[in-house]
Amino acid sequence: MSNELIEQAKEKFAAIMQEQLDRIEVMKQGAEDTDFSQLKPIIIGVCFGDGIGEIISKHARAALEHVLKDEVAAGKVEFRDIDGLTIENRAKHEKAIPDDVLAELKACHVILKGPTTTPQAGDEWPNIESANVAMRRYLDLFANVRPVKIPQEGVDWCFFRENTEGAYVLGSKGFDVSEDLSVDFKVITEQGAERIVRMAFEYAKNNGIDKVTVVTKSNVVKTTDGRFSRVAFRIAKEYPGINLDEWYIDIMTAKLIDESRRREFKVMVMPNLYGDILTDEAAQLQGGVGTAGSANIGSQWSMFEAIHGSAPRMVKEGRAQFADPCSMVRASAMLLRHIGYPERGEKIEMALEMCGQFEKKMKITGRDTGVTGEAYTEYVLSWVDNPDLKAKWEEEVDKIKK
Ligand code: IPM
Ligand code: MG
Repeated sequence: MSNELIEQAKEKFAAIMQEQLDRIEVMKQGAEDTDFSQLKPIIIGVCFGDGIGEIISKHARAALEHVLKDEVAAGKVEFRDIDGLTIENRAKHEKAIPDDVLAELKACHVILKGPTTTPQAGDEWPNIESANVAMRRYLDLFANVRPVKIPQEGVDWCFFRENTEGAYVLGSKGFDVSEDLSVDFKVITEQGAERIVRMAFEYAKNNGIDKVTVVTKSNVVKTTDGRFSRVAFRIAKEYPGINLDEWYIDIMTAKLIDESRRREFKVMVMPNLYGDILTDEAAQLQGGVGTAGSANIGSQWSMFEAIHGSAPRMVKEGRAQFADPCSMVRASAMLLRHIGYPERGEKIEMALEMCGQFEKKMKITGRDTGVTGEAYTEYVLSWVDNPDLKAKWEEEVDKIKK
């Protein structure tokens, strides 16, 4: 009996290893980066997702359209709505991303994506893979970049979460070897680790930051995390002005709440699951997971989203219109920076800070004790259009520094 089970497991394992070795070959070939300055039009796909996703991505789309209206009119930018990423449609096709939706996504250059429901065992949906995780893999969006700021404390973090490997890439390919034995896989490749580490170092270099922190558990998870850490130290040698230090994920989560130390961290790079956990913690410190945006960057495509989920509970309780759109609006600011409109991205970011941290004329609470997402988006856009935005924002930042 056990021999038979082992033989079956070996077969599955062999198929998975083959897939990974093939993926390495593709990574070795490398892909050319999209040059947005050469595209006319730049096609922005908008996936509304489900739950609160449907609502808050409409607000984010409105914000993007607002700042890009001249470009749209001049045919430099085109918006395309992609409807099929709802949980109902994914469940109907029993696919994380139905084929026609994937084709539509691939026909865009850049994607703004609302939160999508990830089915789990026991709920009403077939237990299909997460649409996020699938999109990251299908479009090879290897870098998940998540900035978090607490200006009053001088905290300015940028997390580089590896997005296509780690415990995630094979999470849905694990299997039950026997009635009692379950196995999942974690994979780190030399090429996969190198490209994310390199991106973190490039970011540090371009922003005058002299320190990168690699976060692992390489003392315990010796093979995969060990490789990730080794790659980081190898790449660090190419950046003589930048120091690399290594922290283990457990103590790192503690240090993020250590107010006397946390501002020392700047750029952090880590395998997938650690990045998932650490960035929720960091976003909470910034004001809640509803305040953070997330860039998923690959060579050919990129996708911008909130860091949180679709909040089905809010929808069930009839509170969806009060959902905080800031994460998605921030994601649209990141998208603008990425496609070559950095000053407009910066404007939206300053406006978000004016509204959320400084002026605070309106409050969003997720329920009827605060304003709706629509009203809040209008509030943010009124600051975007305010000619005094930069001066006022600088004034507020100066006050904090004193
Ligand atoms: C995130 C989310 C996703 C993840 C979920 C929705 C699959 O938590 O983007 O951090 O785990 O990556
Ligand atoms: Mg997460």
